[in-house]
Amino acid sequence: MRVAVAHNGSAPAPSAIRLLNVSKSYREGERLHVVLDAINAEVVAGDTVALLGSSGSGKSTLLNLISGIDQPDAGAIELAGTRLTALDERARTLYRRRNLGFVYQFFNLLPTLTVAENIRLPLELNGVAAVASERRSLELLDAVGLAARATSFPERLSGGEQQRVAIARALAHAPALVLADEPTGNLDEETGEQVLGVLQKMLVEHGSTMVLATHSRKVAAIARRVWRTQNGHLIEESGISL
Ligand SMILES: Nc1ncnc2c1ncn2[C@@H]1O[C@H](COP(=O)(O)OP(=O)(O)O)[C@@H](O)[C@H]1O
Ligand SMILES: [Mg+2]
Repeated sequence: MRVAVAHNGSAPAPSAIRLLNVSKSYREGERLHVVLDAINAEVVAGDTVALLGSSGSGKSTLLNLISGIDQPDAGAIELAGTRLTALDERARTLYRRRNLGFVYQFFNLLPTLTVAENIRLPLELNGVAAVASERRSLELLDAVGLAARATSFPERLSGGEQQRVAIARALAHAPALVLADEPTGNLDEETGEQVLGVLQKMLVEHGSTMVLATHSRKVAAIARRVWRTQNGHLIEESGISL
């Protein structure tokens, strides 16, 4: 477990994520496939972590547990001091809506909404008034270099542009924590690099914590910490078993 260090008596950085003996298995016929085996880890607020691991090693499973979409079989998860695993499904959904932002491999923009409307959606779900959400969506589109595309529908945009919209949507409500699952997995290398640059810039501006799953070491390099998912364990790149 990582321990935050206090400097000169100042308060330690608050914990954004704590994983406490988190386990998750899936039943495959007769046998149990252990995907995560009593994992312990901590991330301080504002930090960035890449989850690096081969396909099927449990990256998405861990992200789905951290977001509360899935529940662990055992153990507990705390986000910014809230014990997510103690909340019921409705409370977890509300928590997610207010505090989390997501970026997926396949963008997941709603095809029947314009680009600006896609970005306004998480704001309006959080009760932000229409005038304010419209203004904010235009600011965000400007920040990701797509101010001219506000009224376009997602299918009119290239993959890289769609992912920039998805990043703007993920950060619209200034979430404390951003979870990205293979965000460049569906983009060519050059476009992927541009999109990662936009993501990094937005994270710095918002001071959000991020966990990013990828199988690419190059993509993982944008994060300050790197964890590997392997045989049910989480291994810090420095070689420390978490
Ligand atoms: N809902 C599920 N039911 C059964 N097995 C699952 C389910 N979700 C994931 N798995 C299995 O758990 C393992 C880890 O999957 P996943 O977390 O998606 O890996 P990654 O994201 O690293 O590619 C895989 O072997 C996968 O088949
Ligand atoms: Mg995955």
